Amino acid sequence: MQRPAAAQVRALLAALAVLGVSVAIAIVLGRVADRREIQRTTAAAEAGALRGQTALRTLLAGFEEQVRVASANPPLVASLEAGIDRATLRDLLFNEPWLKSFRSSVDGFGVVRRGVAPEVSARLPEKFDVKDLSERARSERRPASGLRVAGGQVLAVVACPVTLTDGSESPLLLATKIVDVGTLAMVAERAAGAAAISDGRRVLVAAGESSAGAGVDLSEIKRLVSLSAPAAITLANGRDAIAAVPIDGELRLIVHVRRAPAAGGIAGTTWPIWVTLIIGIGAAVGVFLLVGRGVRPPHARRATPDDSPTMVTSVGRYRVIDRIGLGGMVEIYSAVTTGEGGFRRSVVIKRLRPQLAGDPAAVAQFCDEANLLAALHHPNIVAVQDFGRAGDQLFLAEEYILGRDLGRLVKRCVEQVKRSLPAEVVAHVGFELLKALDYVHNVCNEEGKPLGIVHGDVSPENIMISSRGEVKLLDFGVAKATDGRPSRTETGVVKGNVSFMSPEQARGEGNDARSDLYATALVIYYCLVGKPLYESHAGYELLLKAGAGPGPEEWAAVGRVPPRFSALLRRALAPRVEQRYQSAREMAVDLERLIGDGAQRTHALIGRLFGPELTAEARRLAETPDEPAHREPMPT
Ligand SMILES: Nc1ncnc2c1ncn2[C@@H]1O[C@H](COP(=O)(O)OP(=O)(O)OP(=O)(O)O)[C@@H](O)[C@H]1O
Ligand SMILES: [Mg+2]
Repeated sequence: MQRPAAAQVRALLAALAVLGVSVAIAIVLGRVADRREIQRTTAAAEAGALRGQTALRTLLAGFEEQVRVASANPPLVASLEAGIDRATLRDLLFNEPWLKSFRSSVDGFGVVRRGVAPEVSARLPEKFDVKDLSERARSERRPASGLRVAGGQVLAVVACPVTLTDGSESPLLLATKIVDVGTLAMVAERAAGAAAISDGRRVLVAAGESSAGAGVDLSEIKRLVSLSAPAAITLANGRDAIAAVPIDGELRLIVHVRRAPAAGGIAGTTWPIWVTLIIGIGAAVGVFLLVGRGVRPPHARRATPDDSPTMVTSVGRYRVIDRIGLGGMVEIYSAVTTGEGGFRRSVVIKRLRPQLAGDPAAVAQFCDEANLLAALHHPNIVAVQDFGRAGDQLFLAEEYILGRDLGRLVKRCVEQVKRSLPAEVVAHVGFELLKALDYVHNVCNEEGKPLGIVHGDVSPENIMISSRGEVKLLDFGVAKATDGRPSRTETGVVKGNVSFMSPEQARGEGNDARSDLYATALVIYYCLVGKPLYESHAGYELLLKAGAGPGPEEWAAVGRVPPRFSALLRRALAPRVEQRYQSAREMAVDLERLIGDGAQRTHALIGRLFGPELTAEARRLAETPDEPAHREPMPT
């Protein structure tokens, strides 16, 4: 028999231990919530900075066009061709009425005939180095633009070649415009925050206010003016973030955004912590009473949000066989369902992670995915079989594809065969994928109204290759429809696999069907080469790279793929959406010519690389007993 005092001490220690564990869990939950908030805020600032950068580029492109039109003015061209002297040229530039609107729309201008110094100029700064722009404009025979600092002001500068018919000389028309508060206000508006241009030491010009409302001014930007670019930081309050992107030389664009508070306010984000603490206190009191009375607490399973997902043996009426994936939002299991007369069917269960069961945004996103998938019926798209709730957890049952995702196929092929997929296999996979996308992009509801679906996350891990070589598109977790149904895609929040993302999607500007085709091209490149096109970039750098699209290095890499593919990739990866393939069907036509015996080769390849594994997997699904020996309750 224990002495009563010893029992009390034991009870107290046990209660303190339970309390300690619950406080630790609450702290971890708090940290996770903080980190998530910080990630969202940082992503919003990064996306804002990218949009601001694009707005500046657009402004420069508009200015280039304006100067190009002036440079083609026939009297100017004729005078330069005639080799008029400096005084006449000056008179022409300053007084002729045909250049009046040009003169009044720019802040400074000048003409360079030889070298890089203007022969005649007005209102151009004294020390004004435009050598690089002049050389670029001459060598590329098109306007070149950039940003320069003169007299503490930021100037947009354009150097534009004046094309003479005899081509003996290559004069340039120069023009400048001050990037003032008004100009930057447009950039700030696009960035949905406050924006400033800095040279790393001081703010040169600044404007704007966060769209989230009062209180955001430029003081934070001024404090963080030396933030190197690219970079992003979130301030201590978790709602304000500042991101910097390079714009020209030392100059950087700094953007400050403030995120609106999460729906549900503080209570919306901190309630799991409070619930954990309350449960912890309750459990501590319970343990104290039970142990104090000398009764051992029942050997009950812990009921915490972190309960190990490996303990699941059934989900609703589905008997779980293996866990095949664990994503940020879902746990993925292979499972079987059985019924009367020996009925048996293999499925894949995607179950919303227990931690997210109470997160309304995650639940809505998961329901969206299920509803969207339910509207799709196509041999190249994984079919949804069921959507429901087991306990308090949502799950989606999909047709089970015996095979491997394209990411694993490419990796295994590179490891074992020391080269990536054969060209015919790539063409087959790409063609079948485009058939799925053609259907997705054009599918209509029962009334014949297009649903306007965009997948938004076309990437190797979301494409399954079955053991028979069939290709199936899956994971509509990021997909959106434009038919009036609510879409989860928040402006400025980038979702999906960045390595396979179109520039417009990476910049948070929204994506349409053509973005899926861009992603398809990046997948085709990956399959041909065995590495993603932007392989040397990671993290925020990768997002910036994806937002900018291929640079000279990447274009050179695209040029090294088999020539039959490089023309197709060049078109599909064109920076301007209008220059790309406009529909999946159009792109599929070009790919179809390259297939040859791709279907048979795909079948043979997956058999060679994964045959025994897949046979064992199929056997396990077929042989697992109908009834689980012991049905564990679902973790809560
Ligand atoms: N129907 C299926 N049949 C066979 N395997 C599948 C199926 N669905 C998914 N998988 C496997 O599970 C992996 C992840 O699936 P999925 O892409 O649907 O989840 P996820 O949405 O990426 O997860 P998260 O959103 O949390 O990152 C796939 O890459 C594939 O290997
Ligand atoms: Mg996925």
